[in-house]
Amino acid sequence: MRVDIITLLPQIFENVFDESVLGSAVKSGLIDIVLHNFRDYGDGKHKTVDDTPFGGGPGMVFKPTPLVNCIRDVRKKSIPAPVIGLTPQGEPFTQNLGKELAKFDRLILVCGRYEGFDERIIHEFDFQLSIGDYVLTGGEFAAMTVVDAISRMIPGTVGCQDSVIQDSFYEGILDHPQYTRPASWEGLEVPNVLLNGNHAFINKYRRSRALLTTIVSRPDVFATTNLSDSDKDIIQELISHM
Ligand code: ADE
Repeated sequence: MRVDIITLLPQIFENVFDESVLGSAVKSGLIDIVLHNFRDYGDGKHKTVDDTPFGGGPGMVFKPTPLVNCIRDVRKKSIPAPVIGLTPQGEPFTQNLGKELAKFDRLILVCGRYEGFDERIIHEFDFQLSIGDYVLTGGEFAAMTVVDAISRMIPGTVGCQDSVIQDSFYEGILDHPQYTRPASWEGLEVPNVLLNGNHAFINKYRRSRALLTTIVSRPDVFATTNLSDSDKDIIQELISHM
């Protein structure tokens, strides 16, 4: 997958895409990140990209022409791709949306700053994404989050694809708790079932913990989960032990 990132601060991304799983994906060519500084499209000697808002108020607003010229140029550099604005008013980014975006061969992400974009450029976006109900100083950290989450879903990026399928949210529920050695630590024991090597029991135990964690921590997520018949049996069993 090729990801073009349009930003005023390309240096923020230095090193971010060099490490860990994402770093290996970039090195092995599974993901190609291309950064574009839209300052290069700014007006005049000072390459101005922003101006004060009409009607007054604090902060600066991105002028429409430099950003739109940059987006249109970047579009032409490779195969067709959706142009995605990272903004607080965008569609909430979820694991499911990530799965859909991972199917594209190319994405173009546009990072805002200051008070926002001139409203008239919004039609250049195919859609907008928000990573949460808070306002960041810019879209750069949101772009990193989106690229990181999507990259894990591209086959080949995570060594063991099972670990992605088991991830929190991948199947609409949270992940089960994990333990490692020592089996006894500060008086806290690893559940016995995980030590006995019976994989049918282990899988059932993990599924029941995952369901329970979701019910307790994220009832909103649980309400939208598609439960299998065996999930329903597990929940009945959990209720009968209450
Ligand atoms: N830019 C500023 N805040 C943001 C958010 N919450 N999500 C995406 N982009 C943003």
